[in-house]
Amino acid sequence: MATFKIKRYNPEIQREPYYEEFQYDPPEGTTLLDSLNEIKWTQDGTLSYRMSCRSAICGSCAVKANGHAILACQRQAEHVIKNDTVVLEPLGNMKPIKDLVVDFDPFWEKINKVTPYLKPEETKPEKERHQSQAQFSIIDDSSTCIMCGACYSDCNVLEVDDNFLGPAALAKAQRFVGDSRDKDRKARVEQLSEPGGIWDCTHCGECVERCPKPAEPFHRIKEIMTVALEEGVHNNNGARHALSFTKSIKHSGRLNENVLPVESIGFLGVKGIVNLVQDNLKMLMQGKVPTVIKDVFGLIPVGLRMLKKGKIPPIIHHSVDDVDDVKRIFKELKQ
Ligand code: SF4
Ligand code: SF4
Ligand code: FES
Repeated sequence: MATFKIKRYNPEIQREPYYEEFQYDPPEGTTLLDSLNEIKWTQDGTLSYRMSCRSAICGSCAVKANGHAILACQRQAEHVIKNDTVVLEPLGNMKPIKDLVVDFDPFWEKINKVTPYLKPEETKPEKERHQSQAQFSIIDDSSTCIMCGACYSDCNVLEVDDNFLGPAALAKAQRFVGDSRDKDRKARVEQLSEPGGIWDCTHCGECVERCPKPAEPFHRIKEIMTVALEEGVHNNNGARHALSFTKSIKHSGRLNENVLPVESIGFLGVKGIVNLVQDNLKMLMQGKVPTVIKDVFGLIPVGLRMLKKGKIPPIIHHSVDDVDDVKRIFKELKQ
């Protein structure tokens, strides 16, 4: 017999959520969703959750089990029950509506923001628009997303920043950025490089762990970053940071932490300063706080903390002993 500890919430009856325990012994080989169904059908008909296909296709049944988002119909109950108990909660980063049912509106709003449809050339082909196998393979993985919201639920950035597009929308964006038939690739990566886009991902990889399909958003985010850099969309902190990081490692084999923050903000070089002034004047005219002010003030506490912990990098930047090996790796990568 296992204990199913389920987070219950029904604001029409009680404002605060609470946990309720159900005892149930899932037969071997049955899924977590089968257990939820049995509990609902035999113990409490008011228990609410979403489901439809029972085959890991529709994406409806994602819930948190023991703190991590999973598809309830894709996991056998015995695999999620630990010490005879499983804790079930609604997905994170979305408002609960009732029990395990959450409000997906913000999720869909973000999907809509990335223009989730093909924008082909105006000229119509005689028949269909062809793709080779190689061209399709670029968008194959992102095409498998079933919009379950598991990645969105467990994304660390979304917990602190509602403005972040999130892993699912960015995986969907890669589906069109990488599509050989789409004419808006550059415009797309420009939009995705704005605040709240690809460069706000912290590379934690949690969305890859949670994704039940090969869509694996973080890998798709890296692919969009590569396209953005190849398309010359460099006028933002994220791209500048990546380029500065690469330049430093290529040059000396180690990170120049004195230069990295300044180059990331774009203080260095005439072009950088011109762009910076233009961007920040534009923001001032729109009545927004210029990012340069936010960035500089944001760096001060970091610098002070580093000073306090004795982590200020050396003023003179030295190369590692085997820097020629590092340069050779870069050369081979380029080839
Ligand atoms: S890798 Fe990026 S998108 Fe994925 S969960 Fe982490 S912060 Fe979110
Ligand atoms: S990317 Fe994966 S986890 Fe995220 S919504 Fe799509 S299928 Fe679900
Ligand atoms: S019920 Fe459709 S994915 Fe689980």
